[in-house]
Amino acid sequence: MRTLLRALALLLVAGPLSAAALYAAAGPDWADDALKRVLAPPLGLPAIAHPAANPPTAAKIALGRKLFFDRRLSHNNTTSCAMCHVPEQGFTSNDLATPVGVEGRSVRRNTPTVLNIAYVDALFHDGRDPALETQYVAPITAFNEMANPSLGYVIDKIANLDDYNAPFQAAFGAGPSPDRLGQALAAYQRSLLAGASPFDRWRFGGESDALGERERQGFELFTGKAGCVACHAIGESSALFSDGLFHDTGYGWQREQERQGKGGMVEVEIAPGVITSIPHSVVQSVGNPPPADLGRYEVTQDPKDRWRFRTPSLRNVTLTAPYMHDGQLQRLDDVVAFYNAGGVPHDGLDERIKPLGLTVEEQVALVAFLKSLTGSNIDQLAAEARVEEPDNIR
Ligand code: HEC
Ligand code: HEC
Repeated sequence: MRTLLRALALLLVAGPLSAAALYAAAGPDWADDALKRVLAPPLGLPAIAHPAANPPTAAKIALGRKLFFDRRLSHNNTTSCAMCHVPEQGFTSNDLATPVGVEGRSVRRNTPTVLNIAYVDALFHDGRDPALETQYVAPITAFNEMANPSLGYVIDKIANLDDYNAPFQAAFGAGPSPDRLGQALAAYQRSLLAGASPFDRWRFGGESDALGERERQGFELFTGKAGCVACHAIGESSALFSDGLFHDTGYGWQREQERQGKGGMVEVEIAPGVITSIPHSVVQSVGNPPPADLGRYEVTQDPKDRWRFRTPSLRNVTLTAPYMHDGQLQRLDDVVAFYNAGGVPHDGLDERIKPLGLTVEEQVALVAFLKSLTGSNIDQLAAEARVEEPDNIR
């Protein structure tokens, strides 16, 4: 009752909630808080190795946030980074296996989260870019993402937007340039650290009751019978749940077989809502085959790297569905069932991927453990992200 009265009183004083009030859940000093977080990461996360040329500052983080949410960074002012990396959806897109860029053009792979991206040395599912400072050039100029004709074109566009003069001066004492754009975006994304999960409190914080019995059973399986920890690594004083390496789990190969339709049937929507199955050979005779995804091979051209993908972190994995590089597994149960089956034998399959013989109860425990990896400060990160309305919406 008292809360209700207070809400009514607030309404009388402030009037109906304005759009601005909705976005103002984080305080004006949010970038200082973000900087503190970057310098002393939450429990369970290691220190960040910042590039010498781009030490973090609150002004860079603030500018990076503004850029990340600005739809004017796309050619037709419709698509911002945050529209695929959505703060309220674990900084990814929960509803889409693969995202859609400018003018409804579709992208081949699933959107990875940018939470804890500070610890990733090889960016993208195939690890093709070594630094956040340069990574942004890909989405900004990709025809099916933000569709700008060139990087110089965007820099020139931003230089002519009045509201960027002050933030660029504050962050760099200079106007927009390709390097500065990359440095600001990188500084903001490195501040998106999500840790202090129930698992972290249990493992690194000495809170023996932070995990329940089922989660602890899941941990035993994760590090024992199921063998997950071999690639989704856990350290002594921190854990990234990734070895940062590339492996053939059999998933990519299996998907490729399905795409090629080796002997199979394909579901085709012949009219809205009307779906029928036809032999794959018929589909192939009337259209181009969907593009293959050879993963790491596309970067190295080394046949050994065919169907290898980077091990993703499993932190916050409950928030980042759908799963795998093409987003075709909807639920964590599906992923665990995939591993339990052990993949289809083929050349290159990682030797650790084999039938696991997990009971239903053990699979449930494993999923319960994965659910304990959600950071405690996710809401804070989303509130900071929405501290102002996205630019050009006003
Ligand atoms: C149309 C949706 C879309 C937009 C817009 C978009 N991204 Fe992404 N992002 C993706 C997809 C899909 C991938 C994975 C692509 C791949 O692996 O080939 C990705 C990958 C990334 C990665 C690497 C993550 C990892 O785990 O390696 C970062 C960092 C990133 N994007 C940041 C940005 C920034 C910064 C912008 C804006 C300048 C942006 N993205 C715009 C969809 C998008
Ligand atoms: C041989 C190394 C390896 C082992 C062992 C392994 N994984 Fe993975 N895991 C990967 C790689 C590589 C991917 C990415 C695959 C892809 O995108 O095609 C992945 C993807 C995942 C994903 C999807 C994450 C996302 O964001 O899309 C989950 C969940 C996962 N693994 C959980 C597990 C569990 C649980 C186990 C143990 C049963 C396990 N993994 C064992 C390497 C491994």
